[in-house]
This record gives sequence, C-alpha cells and structure tokens, in this order.
Amino acid sequence: MNSPRVLTAPAGMRDESERLRRTGNRIAVVPTMGALHEGHASLIRIARGAADVVITTVFVNPSQFGPGEDYARYPRDLRRDVEIAGEAGADIVFAPPAAGVYPDGYATWVTVEGVTEGLEGGVRPGHFRGVATVVTKIFNMTRPHLAVFGQKDAQQVAVIRRLTRDLDFGVEILVAPTVREPDGLAMSSRNAYLSPEERREAPVLYRSLCRGEVLLRGGERDAARVTAEVRRIIRSESRGEIDYVSLADGETLREIESAGDGPMLLSLAVRFGATRLIDNVPIAARHTGEEPKR
Ligand code: PAJ
Repeated sequence: MNSPRVLTAPAGMRDESERLRRTGNRIAVVPTMGALHEGHASLIRIARGAADVVITTVFVNPSQFGPGEDYARYPRDLRRDVEIAGEAGADIVFAPPAAGVYPDGYATWVTVEGVTEGLEGGVRPGHFRGVATVVTKIFNMTRPHLAVFGQKDAQQVAVIRRLTRDLDFGVEILVAPTVREPDGLAMSSRNAYLSPEERREAPVLYRSLCRGEVLLRGGERDAARVTAEVRRIIRSESRGEIDYVSLADGETLREIESAGDGPMLLSLAVRFGATRLIDNVPIAARHTGEEPKR
C-alpha cells in the first residue's frame, strides 16, 4: 500500500507543489473535510488515473458551517483518513490547522453570485462563501492542474466551475458520480449521525428521486407534479422533514416550472431528526443518447 506523506503547513505545501510542477508532474487535488468513506475514495481513484501526483486535503472548514450547524461535532480522525486516502492512491495528505488557513486578522472572502442563490444557498446563508473561499485557498496552496469533486454536492460543483472560470484559475474540474450504499442511500459522513430507525428510512430519498426521474423520462413536463410526487413518497414512507425538493435547470440551477429538453437537476434536502441529508439525480438532455453521470 501507498503510504501518503502528511503535510500541515500551507507554505510547505505550496513549495512542494511548485517543486513537483517544475519537475514536470501533473498534480490533482481532492478537497475533503475528512471522515473519508468510499465516496471520497472514488474521487481519489479518479484523480490517481488522471495525474502523476495526488493530493487529498483534509480540513473541516469552519467558514462554511452556519451557527447551529455541526462544525464542533463533525467527525475527525486523521489517522484513519490517511489510511483510506493512501489505499485509494493519494501521495500527499494536506491537513492544515484552522489557524494556518484563517490566521489572526483574516479578512478576505470569495463570493460567487447567481448559482449560489437557490437550493442549499437559499437554506444555508454564507455556506458557499465559505466553500468558495476555502477552495480558492486550497487551489493556491496546492497549485493543482486538476481537481475532483462529487456530483453528490451538485450545487457545490456549479459554484466551483463558476469560480474557476471567473477567477482564471486554470484548474480542470472533474466531476465524479455519487457513490451509494447498497440500499441507495448516498454515502455521506453525516450518515453516521442517523439513529438505526432514521438509517432504515433514509433510502427513501434516492427512491423518491428515481421515481421523479421516471416521471420526467416518461414525458411529464410539469415540475410541480414531479416534485409533489417526490414529496409524497418521502412523507408517506418516512418521518423526514423536507427542506426542499427542486427541479432546476442543469446549468444555472434556477428552478423551472416546466421541464424542457436540456439537462436538469432534481434535488432535495431532508432532515431526519438533527441530521440534514442532501441528494440529487442529474437528468440528461433529451435525444442525446447520453447517460447522466451519477
Ligand atoms: P466533503 O463533504 O468531505 O466532500 C468532499 C468531496 O467528496 C466533495 O467533492 C463531495 O461532493 C464528495 N463526496 C461526498 N460524498 C460523496 C459520495 N457519496 N459520492 C461521491 N462523492 C462524494 O464537500 C466538501 O467536503 C467541502 O465542501 C469542501 C469541497 C472540501 C470544501 O471545504
């Protein structure tokens, strides 16, 4: 097994990346908040196949958590993360301390407009400002040629694509399909918070999204009918409390009333007790013969 090197100092990380670049290496970064699972490992394996050097970052980013969210209790276990990252093919684990990323006097924030406004951005004010800022900093610290993100966080992908284009980072963005448990539940570090009963109910999310997808593929155009059916299934088969169920344009992520032929995103956020889960299915454009990435 590959045993990754662990770096913690931002300046040391940057120097190392500069050295690797000078010697002709193609660098991939996989940003994470740790508590690694098979979803993260799949991203690292994709990075491994696309680059010479793979850096996995592990940093629970305080600025993307709202007050009352789970920053303090977010699971942290660096030793285990290093092991999983190594098994998946990471060469370097970069795990800076919070004071290394946000030293005293820190005052600069990156705000992406438009695509941040609905869905998660609507319910979690400031969340994407924190994500855009930390991803900018991670790119500056690791100087990657490419970065891999998961479709699981579809709006985050849209924000990072926008950010990368708008600020001329010149980093190629790869998107990896959502990795699921055998019963369909999308893997997430937050699944560990679910009680056994909530865990039994949670697969209803993906089941309901698949039903919505079937309706759309069968020609249903009325977005309200699709989202109502998704809601009905969740309500009748679980005690989950729905934050939103949304059908949106696949590129702008603006909610739509009527399904067109272009790519769309059917997504939801549902609370099981204190645990908030998100999931989505991308709906590919019609008549392209192309299957959507999951
Ligand atoms: P985190 O939630 O740790 O996720 C890290 C990466 O793993 C993200 O790109 C996420 O979409 C991907 N991921 C999570 N679960 C997945 C699954 N089941 N299948 C496929 N990919 C999955 O997302 C973040 O951290 C943070 O916001 C971060 C980008 C690191 C910035 O702090």
